Amino acid sequence: MNEPLWSAVDRYIATHLIPEDEALDAALAASAAAGLPAGAISASQGRLLELLARIHGARRILELGTLGGYSTIWLARALPADGRLVTLEADPRYAEVARANLANAGLAEIVQVRVGEALQTLPELLADGAGPFDLIFIDADKRNNPGYLEWSLRLSRPGSVIVADNVVRAGAILDPDGSDPSLGDGGLQGVRRFYELLAAEPRVTATAIQTVGAKGHDGFVLALVADDH
Ligand code: DHB
Ligand code: MG
Repeated sequence: MNEPLWSAVDRYIATHLIPEDEALDAALAASAAAGLPAGAISASQGRLLELLARIHGARRILELGTLGGYSTIWLARALPADGRLVTLEADPRYAEVARANLANAGLAEIVQVRVGEALQTLPELLADGAGPFDLIFIDADKRNNPGYLEWSLRLSRPGSVIVADNVVRAGAILDPDGSDPSLGDGGLQGVRRFYELLAAEPRVTATAIQTVGAKGHDGFVLALVADDH
């Protein structure tokens, strides 16, 4: 009902605070042209991720769910010159689009796009000695959020920050038997289980922030990995 107002306010925010950006606009255009689903975060959310990474002084970032690399660009730009970002994408076609978008943004050197189901590539990352990561952004297939939390903790250090997208879904999260077709099979229940695991997990302190704007009514989880992790 209020969504047009939210969108107008989001536009006001973005117009004032977020400069036009050729690489980000090109990434969205190329993603749409290649037929990728429209799941990318908004500009104001991208700026929030950038700020979180900078406030935290993140040097190593892990992203689960690259899509066309839009959020990847925001996060990678927050890194210092010697920083690194690893992003995991199950769909080789999405990964190809993302690689081109990242190259166009001048970020090919500091971002590695790893192709494969994240539940396969996460153990490989750990075996390769990657991490610990300072910041982890979970935005892949929501059905597997419970497993992604487990692997994120394995790839964390005390003080690591975990952010997860799409944890409100216009209130659909309230329904114990609910589903959300746009989150895929079992997606909404994966997010509900994710909350339960966070609640039961002594190693994290977490909250969720509801958001309204260009992406409708949704929200993100923000979690801090404990110092005694
Ligand atoms: C949708 C939005 C997302 O941010 C996402 O990760 C997946 C799906 C959507 O609204 O369809
Ligand atoms: Mg998302």
